[in-house]
Amino acid sequence: MAMIINTVEGLTKIAQGVRADGKTIGLVPTMGALHEGHLSLIRRARAENDVVFVSIFVNPVQFNNKEDLVKYPRTLENDVALIGDYADFIFAPTVEEVFPTPPEEEYDFGPVANVMEGAARPGHFNGVGVIVGRLFRWVNPHKSYFGEKDYQQIAVIRELVRIGNYGTEIIPCPIVREPNGLAMSSRNRRLTPEEFETAAQIHQILLKSTEIEGDVPEVKAFVEEAIAQVPAFTLDYFEMADDTTLQTVHSFSEAKGVMGFITVYIGAVRLIDNIRYR
Ligand code: PAF
Repeated sequence: MAMIINTVEGLTKIAQGVRADGKTIGLVPTMGALHEGHLSLIRRARAENDVVFVSIFVNPVQFNNKEDLVKYPRTLENDVALIGDYADFIFAPTVEEVFPTPPEEEYDFGPVANVMEGAARPGHFNGVGVIVGRLFRWVNPHKSYFGEKDYQQIAVIRELVRIGNYGTEIIPCPIVREPNGLAMSSRNRRLTPEEFETAAQIHQILLKSTEIEGDVPEVKAFVEEAIAQVPAFTLDYFEMADDTTLQTVHSFSEAKGVMGFITVYIGAVRLIDNIRYR
């Protein structure tokens, strides 16, 4: 079983010791409520590093919606059991341990952080940068693992690494889906069984949209109309964007790689997903 660490001092001492022994460190930052998507990151970290750290911390400063923070599932005991031997250390601190005083870091991640999730959730990416930057400084991992469901977050974290000059390699890992196609997310636990089935249509609609003949406006119109047909859905946004700069494209010819990014409310639960077109 992995050893649980609750203090920043304990975490940094252990991580420094691992480095001093010449071993490689893989870090998987999480907010807990682990599912198969997280476990795929942790297993990959296990395969690619000598020592694996998983952090479990529901980071209050990245929530711009208080209700979302309060309702975020907290399942530490179950998480520890799921991690089993895949990690060597689990960092599970209190909020006071991570933020003895309110954090003051102010990041400017540039254009990648100003669109989509950055525009819809003011302060969110700064909050992510605050916690992930601290974890990078405390653990100093060789490799860090992030899921592509939060594709834009990965672009922001790459900027964080550049700004902070951190020596960690960012390893993006593919989305893991439920058998019905819904992208795995800790928030899925808040869906009723009916909502869970309905939510599967998000991925089905995106998949169908890859077969639309036409350019970006036709694909966008198809997705927006198909989502509007499902009474339980409220579309927050669907954007088609350059896969590197995350800036909106109006034609496939504008970027080498084009992806679609969607955010849909089902009841009070906000779900995100994405798909590659080119
Ligand atoms: O993706 C998440 O779960 C969180 O944003 C992260 C990276 C663990 C930071 O709190």
